[in-house]
Amino acid sequence: MSAAGEIKGITPPDIRLRKGQTPLVCLTAYTTPVARLLDRHCDIVLVGDSVGMVLHGLSSTLGVTLDMMIMHGQAVRRGLEHALMVVDLPFGSYEESPEHAFGNAARVMGETGCSAVKLEGGETIAETIRFLTARGVPVMAHVGLTPQAVNTFGGYRVQGRGADAERIRRDARAVTEAGAFSLVLEKIPEPLARQITADIDIPTIGIGASQACDGQILVSDDMLGLFTSFRPKFVKRYAELGEQAEAAIAAYATDVRNRHFPAVEHLYVNALKAGDFT
Ligand code: KIV
Repeated sequence: MSAAGEIKGITPPDIRLRKGQTPLVCLTAYTTPVARLLDRHCDIVLVGDSVGMVLHGLSSTLGVTLDMMIMHGQAVRRGLEHALMVVDLPFGSYEESPEHAFGNAARVMGETGCSAVKLEGGETIAETIRFLTARGVPVMAHVGLTPQAVNTFGGYRVQGRGADAERIRRDARAVTEAGAFSLVLEKIPEPLARQITADIDIPTIGIGASQACDGQILVSDDMLGLFTSFRPKFVKRYAELGEQAEAAIAAYATDVRNRHFPAVEHLYVNALKAGDFT
């Protein structure tokens, strides 16, 4: 067999082995240029269904389709060589039955070249996780605040407070036992995230969870200051690219209106030879 079939880059079993090691660095990407920027720095790049809100202006992730995830997944694939690529299964594409979930997961993996899928839910989705993992689909699970259940929760509230903590613990155990290779813990109390991380033997990836998690994930557009519609407490802004972009656009508009752009250096004033026309 030729070497062409070798798997390059980080794999789900590699991530599984990172339990209790150096924290996993994870961010979202939806496009090739952003994937290229992340690849050298991240262990996992998630094509999150947050794409619906961040890039498409939807008010929740519920309107995201399988075709949207596949199109963004294909774009991200072209930008990655090193990081593990995980694609979110969108709302409605995996809840009906394990067989339905498998068909859609296989389509996502086949058409995007991703190595794993992520799906939301705990005990109720554990049977599906078992079905997928037994059939060659590595699964990253996601419990706590699962944004696809926003209507059930009545908003994007912290989950697992007080007596509700036991529900999240049961969810975490159920998806671990079902064979998930890692688990996103979103927006739950810090002590609960710490406990779950100590309790289960797969890496936990926190978002609004705990420093004790085995890794952290953020939406890239949030941490870069590009998505500013709302800002959860768990987001740290590492840049204000939205502000910078707007200042650049305003400067361009002023230059055009004042005929300061284009300047002579942007024009083909003396371009007489073919090679000058670039
Ligand atoms: O859709 C997404 O981007 C996510 C992460 C925030 C975990 O699920």
